[in-house]
Amino acid sequence: MTHASIKSPGPLRARLVQVDAADPDPARLADAAAALADGKLVAFPTETVYGLGANALNPAAIGRIYAAKGRPPTNPLIVHIADLDAITRVVADFPPIARQLADAFWPGPLTLILPRNEAIAPAVSAGLDTVAVRMPAHPVARALIRLAGVPVAAPSANRYTHVSPTRAAHVLEGLGDALDFVVDAGPTSVGLESTVLSLVDAPPTILRPGMITRAQLAEVVPDVAYAAQHTVDEAHQRPSPGMAKKHYAPRAHLQVFDGPLASLNLLDADEKVGLILLDSPEAGAPATIAGPVLILGTRPAQFAHGLYDALHKLDQLGCTRILVERPPAGEAWRAVHDRLARAAD
Ligand code: TXA
Ligand code: MG
Repeated sequence: MTHASIKSPGPLRARLVQVDAADPDPARLADAAAALADGKLVAFPTETVYGLGANALNPAAIGRIYAAKGRPPTNPLIVHIADLDAITRVVADFPPIARQLADAFWPGPLTLILPRNEAIAPAVSAGLDTVAVRMPAHPVARALIRLAGVPVAAPSANRYTHVSPTRAAHVLEGLGDALDFVVDAGPTSVGLESTVLSLVDAPPTILRPGMITRAQLAEVVPDVAYAAQHTVDEAHQRPSPGMAKKHYAPRAHLQVFDGPLASLNLLDADEKVGLILLDSPEAGAPATIAGPVLILGTRPAQFAHGLYDALHKLDQLGCTRILVERPPAGEAWRAVHDRLARAAD
């Protein structure tokens, strides 16, 4: 009932399936799950961002992910499972430290790097002997994966270097003509991609910061390191191939600014400027803000939740420059700072 008709001639249009985020009806997910198992591409919500899913056991399906995203084959994917029983289909070894982390943080936005089970299509891991795996917390993701009956490889459902999608509309806009299904369950809650933790490095190393912080991880695993930031280019596969500097970027130029709003001379810009703020401008701040202003909130979880949606919105409004108020320093803001640094030019 909610699937878009296929216009001919013209590109494939994804079938859109709308489900309840908290309690999805399995009957409405059945076709998408069968397509997933069958090697098709299905975008679906996780608690972090929407993923572009394919059967992780099917090399041809994995090839389709890279083609749809325009992603370099050197940049590996995350495999998603719905239940811990499925872990043995994904990894070759699940050591006690991994089990402790899974007990503490799964389902949730933590990805673990472990030795790869050879049943997983090698392209998932971009040829590495390791694999990234997580159990998402979103009821729709888990229901879909469970119904598909296979581990599901899913990068964020955006074209390479674009901003990750936090709504089905973002997915359709970027990839609507490259997918078979888009499952829509409304906006995602976390809003930034999962924390990626390598357990094949000693000590365990955060390859990508996320909203699960080092301090939280350290409650389970005392010694956790950070990988060096921004030092890895696409030509070198270590430590985390997807961590190229230029990533997650909106079309508009993005700059992070410090200090009072009044110091910005926005009216002089002959560009359409969008502003992203933590809080409402102080009284007496200029009435000189010509473009759209989005206020995301002063808590890290609020800001993270709204950031990508704001970038999508300002792009859509035709902004050529986006100015983002610099959030406070501190561990809880680390993932936000990381994504802002990648998006800035
Ligand atoms: O929240 C998320 O993680 C979302 C949702 C859909 O689950 N997915 C996501 O996937 O952000 P993607 O493909 O955009 O990012 C995957 C990250 C990249 O930084 C990649 O380099 C890293 O995981 N990664 C995957 N496999 C790896 C491996 N074997 N070794 C090191 N890093 C790996
Ligand atoms: Mg991504």
